[in-house]
Amino acid sequence: MTSSATDSSTVDRWWRTAVVYQVYIRSFADGNGDGTGDIAGLRSRLPFLRDLGVDAIWINPWYRSPLADGGYDVADYRDIDPQYGTLDQAEALITEAHEHGIKVIGDLVPNHTSDQHVWFAEAVAAPIGDPSRERYHIRPGTGPDGAEPPTDWRSVFGGPAWTRLDDGEWYLHLFAPEQPDLNWDHPEVRSEFCDVLRFWMERDLDGFRVDVAHGLVKDPTFPDANEAQRLLAGSEGRENHPFWDRDGIHPIVREWRAVLDEYPGGRMLVAEAWVPRPERLALYLRPDEYHQSFNFNLLEAAWEAGDYRRIIAETLEVQGGVGAAPTWVMSNHDVVRHPTRLGLPNGTDWRAWLLDGDRSILDAEAGLARARAATMLTLALPGGTYLYQGEELGLPEVHDLPTDVLDDPVWERSDHQAKGRDGCRVPLPWTTDGPSFGFGDAEPWLPMPDSFGPLSVDAQRGDSDSTLTLYTEALRVRREHLVTDEALTWLDLGDDVLAFERGSGVRCVVNFGTEPIALDGEVLLASGPLTADGGLPTDTTVWLG
Ligand code: GLC
Repeated sequence: MTSSATDSSTVDRWWRTAVVYQVYIRSFADGNGDGTGDIAGLRSRLPFLRDLGVDAIWINPWYRSPLADGGYDVADYRDIDPQYGTLDQAEALITEAHEHGIKVIGDLVPNHTSDQHVWFAEAVAAPIGDPSRERYHIRPGTGPDGAEPPTDWRSVFGGPAWTRLDDGEWYLHLFAPEQPDLNWDHPEVRSEFCDVLRFWMERDLDGFRVDVAHGLVKDPTFPDANEAQRLLAGSEGRENHPFWDRDGIHPIVREWRAVLDEYPGGRMLVAEAWVPRPERLALYLRPDEYHQSFNFNLLEAAWEAGDYRRIIAETLEVQGGVGAAPTWVMSNHDVVRHPTRLGLPNGTDWRAWLLDGDRSILDAEAGLARARAATMLTLALPGGTYLYQGEELGLPEVHDLPTDVLDDPVWERSDHQAKGRDGCRVPLPWTTDGPSFGFGDAEPWLPMPDSFGPLSVDAQRGDSDSTLTLYTEALRVRREHLVTDEALTWLDLGDDVLAFERGSGVRCVVNFGTEPIALDGEVLLASGPLTADGGLPTDTTVWLG
């Protein structure tokens, strides 16, 4: 490769300010009429994404997969699932996106494969002790006859993290049993993923989102996790958790980074690392590791100025300290959509609410107003923003999906104690009517509520008050005024108001309080109507020139 590829002074560091639009391909647009979104559908909608003004798309896993966990169970990392299309179509999509000025990020799933992956099939067919088993964590059990699992570890989706094979040994799966965990101490696992990265870099992908980046490495002594660690799995945690955020992750990331640096054009890696302590997260962002990481802290924040201000300040300080550009995320395919989340009273456990919470506590109108305000806030901050498909339409969570249509393994694995993530994965509405509101010609894989018609792209396009128009305008104004520098200066407008100025002189003001506040300056954009005398109402953000 050319030396310019590794010379950091010439690398296009586009991701530092990029607006990346997440495409949950299964639900974006169905091009071949089988009820499932696909590459053909996505290609046909690229002009929509160009007009919206996004810089890049991140496509959730599109590889060959039995879809036991929506594609996060990969059977072949070098091929496209037939439901989504072909490798040729994927290559054509990447080319066409580039022609529209849109970068394309894939989704690398290294913590586990599918149980249908050739490696796992080989391991299961092999006798106990065969070297092919060492690519996974396959171990004898404990207790009489090894009938108890090797450790007390729990799966993220519920139930034990171990499943017993017919020959009596157990294999580890931190997620569903169809997702056996790879052994990252195995040299073939290490080299295979470097090759997979190369495979896609050769096909001109601009980078990868890395799934469960805080996973991968397990304590080789396989200790029991005590109760506190079990409950806190993946969250605050302790140092030296047996399977989350272990120090051994970092040498692996450095190998991947070295592979990416062989390629020209600014290829990037973004970590899905649920590591809430900012100083631990910063380790993933050192100059020879990830280019950036999702920052999920705002997504968990209460709707109040103090919480937002604290999280933003802390993020800027810690990530800036290692030279990384921060990212902001309000929604994705794993969480309740933010207009619904923000419509619930502060402190509501929205994951629990989804299952059986009191629906009357949801204020959908306030939720949408806050969601629009929050998005405008994140778009005004230094760094990059990840948008999740459908948020540009203000789509709410479909919280009333009947349980017999649920597809997320969380529902069954949790013994129906968690409803899962299907409510944010309902297909997108493109037209105001038709059997699946323009998503495709067939019955969609998840039912779409009637309320989606008026929220469709067609219904919102050209409507100056619509959420689609707000997002389009916000991205346009952002390009013009808010991607010029990485500085932010806080302004004090009282405890219930969050306000700051960017280096361009543009100010962002968010009113979390109950009373309107007076404004001065030219209004570039507001997330909702101002008061008759030009004041900023509650739950509203404005950008002032
Ligand atoms: C990540 C993905 C999620 C998936 C899990 C297991 O958290 O975002 O959708 O279920 O990893 O791969």
